[in-house]
Amino acid sequence: PQRIGILTGGGDSPGLNAVIRAVAKSLMQDAGAQVIGFVDGFAGMIDRQARPLSYRDVSGILTLGGTILGTSNKANPFAYHARGNADLSPEVVRYVREELKLDAVVVIGGDGTMSIAHRLQQLGIPMVGVPKTIDNDLMYTDRTFGFDTAVAIATEAFDRLHTTAQSHHRVMILETMGRYAGWIALYAGVAGGADIILIPEFEYDIEEVARICRDRQAGGQRFTLICVAEGAKAKGGELAVRQVVTDSPDPLRLGGVCTVLEHQLCQRIDSEVRTAILGHVQRGGTPSAYDRNLATAFGAYAAAMVADGQYGRMAAVQQGRLTSVAIADVANRQRTVSPDAPMVATAMAVGTSFGVPGM
Ligand code: F6P
Repeated sequence: PQRIGILTGGGDSPGLNAVIRAVAKSLMQDAGAQVIGFVDGFAGMIDRQARPLSYRDVSGILTLGGTILGTSNKANPFAYHARGNADLSPEVVRYVREELKLDAVVVIGGDGTMSIAHRLQQLGIPMVGVPKTIDNDLMYTDRTFGFDTAVAIATEAFDRLHTTAQSHHRVMILETMGRYAGWIALYAGVAGGADIILIPEFEYDIEEVARICRDRQAGGQRFTLICVAEGAKAKGGELAVRQVVTDSPDPLRLGGVCTVLEHQLCQRIDSEVRTAILGHVQRGGTPSAYDRNLATAFGAYAAAMVADGQYGRMAAVQQGRLTSVAIADVANRQRTVSPDAPMVATAMAVGTSFGVPGM
């Protein structure tokens, strides 16, 4: 029987366990394969921590958040941070091919994980990828699992902020994750009825944001909801909001009391402003039904790719259909929100502003 490795790399995402379960169950059931899990992502490949997974190990984990295998977003076999950035790839290849005698490895991860997978594939380890990130920013797949759950959590937070903003006639800012991409802020902002959505792809003008808040106040809508992605940037080359907050010597920032945006707004409007940063709440806990289904479909598809010997490729969904794309094409690249994304038009159709004058 074939021996197939599996690992989860990078930041966790709701649905990882659903993928592990689907890959392992499909392979065990259809091909009678042995499945070996690496502990803590590529750290397990480097530090030789791998264990066989039994059918029982992968049962009852569908609804669990996190990953039963553990993950790491620092361990890179080509530059291992824990050993002076040494290139340990030759040992890794030996361990995987000669000692563990694996026929292939299924890697579940984002663009960074796919970049390592691509290089290991070039060194002779057959790889199959599964796209994972709450940010939804992987190339050539319309969706990644974890995104739907993150959006649902952010939307619920938004709904709660809505009523308190309304009661106190305040400007309420919700900061979402997403790194360099605005997908979570865009989808949660539309679902939560945000008046303003600020995303990294469209640099915002603070004067425009302030004007909207003032106009709403003057027009009798005495509250404003703003959804801001952590990577959002103000026009004029200011750093990303999150980065300014972290780098700022201002002690107010240390308690996360307000963000740059709050600070900028407070200087321009009379309304009170309050900020909430969602952070890792968006990544933890049980996946939504949509993400369980997507993760399970990706896992079963990846197992079929292994059975077919379709290596060096990542499972993807395009226009509602499962397919596969070359891992090399998705490595180290991000899919960001373009101005012609349908949800951008939807947001504008209901009067949501992106903080860009004339847009
Ligand atoms: O890529 C997923 C993500 O949650 C981003 O949205 C966020 O910027 C980053 O990871 C946070 O990383 P960490 O868990 O290392 O703080």
